[in-house]
Amino acid sequence: MLTRRPGGEPFKIKAVEPVGITTRQQREEILRKAGYLQFRIPSEFVYIDLMTDSGTSAMSDNQWAGIMMGDEAYAGCRNFFNLESAVRDIFTYPYVIPTHQGRAAENILMLAMLRPGDYVLGNMFFDTTIAHIEHKGCIGEEFLIPEGYDTESEHPFKGNVDVERMEDFIKKNGASRVGMIIITITSNSNGGQPVSMRNIREVSGVARQYGIPLIFDAARYSENCFFIKKRERGYEDKTLPEIAAELFSYGDGATCSAKKCALVNIGGFIAVKSKEVYDKCLQYLVLFEGFPTYGGLAGRDLEAMARGLRQGLDEAYLEDRIGQVAYLARRLSEAGASVVTPPGGHGVYVDCKKTLPHLEMDKFPADALSVALYLDSGVRTVGLGTLAFGRKDAGGGWVFPELELLRFAIPRRVYTDRHMDVVADSMSSVLKDRGNIKGLRLVKEAPRLRHFLSTLEPLP
Ligand code: F0G
Repeated sequence: MLTRRPGGEPFKIKAVEPVGITTRQQREEILRKAGYLQFRIPSEFVYIDLMTDSGTSAMSDNQWAGIMMGDEAYAGCRNFFNLESAVRDIFTYPYVIPTHQGRAAENILMLAMLRPGDYVLGNMFFDTTIAHIEHKGCIGEEFLIPEGYDTESEHPFKGNVDVERMEDFIKKNGASRVGMIIITITSNSNGGQPVSMRNIREVSGVARQYGIPLIFDAARYSENCFFIKKRERGYEDKTLPEIAAELFSYGDGATCSAKKCALVNIGGFIAVKSKEVYDKCLQYLVLFEGFPTYGGLAGRDLEAMARGLRQGLDEAYLEDRIGQVAYLARRLSEAGASVVTPPGGHGVYVDCKKTLPHLEMDKFPADALSVALYLDSGVRTVGLGTLAFGRKDAGGGWVFPELELLRFAIPRRVYTDRHMDVVADSMSSVLKDRGNIKGLRLVKEAPRLRHFLSTLEPLP
């Protein structure tokens, strides 16, 4: 496990924001009103918000200065050209298209590249990625290595693709039916787990052999590059920009939610090698996002993104960031939680099947633990288990997902290790009485997007 950087945080704090301090009695009432759904809790009542690392970063003084340099011209604003040059430098792809966030980039690139009925192959798709694949009438197939599903495996690259199984699939179904391969770096859905350079090179070999485009979902690309430097032989002496350049050289393009590693509160982009794909994307871009030099964002947002992209590859920052994730993982594990190992890049994932073995899956163990933590300390987390991903069979019975995880996603440069101590201490006190966590039941089940829109209540 990585340890904390001995020197402490590589930044000092210039602006502060008060956080919501509430009493347990108030939190009982807040939870009741929210239908025991974390998404319905107003953030002013949250003490430490680990719901997501997306769009929640603290920007640097340099980025805030960039905000004042926004050129709000409709066409050709200077901030677009700054963004374009940052993306070209890091991603190496010549054609850059801004979008308002990651899912908009997915929508546009898939509209441009996929035909209905195509297969899309990948390691593990994020929710919006699979939703966009299906929205285009296509079928997503995941080929994560088996270690990726094993929450206790210490494999250093649990986001890797099982290349042999993927190639077999291509041979069986025919390459012409595969519209693209998407490698998500890092793989969010199983814990922010990285993909090795070797694995990316091998997938690229298969993609090229069969003439299939290889696209990266690059939301957390800089954290992936950092893991390659720390864990893969031959990369220890390379700089992170060198690692990024090699990694992206194996693909044909990327979609990126800039709300993660690019350290902004809103933004995204597409970057591609092919002029033909770029031209097709522009048709949809104008329809859904805006003119190609602003793509649904203000000039100032483009500037913050251009600057954040470069800062996101700073090694001291990444050492601190990923060190903080590892620190929380160790503290939660000491508190008695079964933590997914090794910890990933953007948060700690707790295996709730193992942490609350007395709860059946239809009692939503991850969300029940989430509610118990909020009640105890005002810490907000998000359940990624049955409530989010469970399906119903024809008879209305549950088809449970493989994993029942509680995610502690850490916003970048926002919380100190003392905040992490509060989270771990709360986990410890909650787990001392884990038998008291009886689970939740659905009072009103939303027909779609269940975990965003349903209403629950605690079981007696
Ligand atoms: N790809 C990955 C791997 C993601 O984690 C996300 C968002 C997206 C694409 C979509 O990007 O939100 O900018 O439209 N993940 C957030 C999360 C929501 O909480 O993990 P977006």
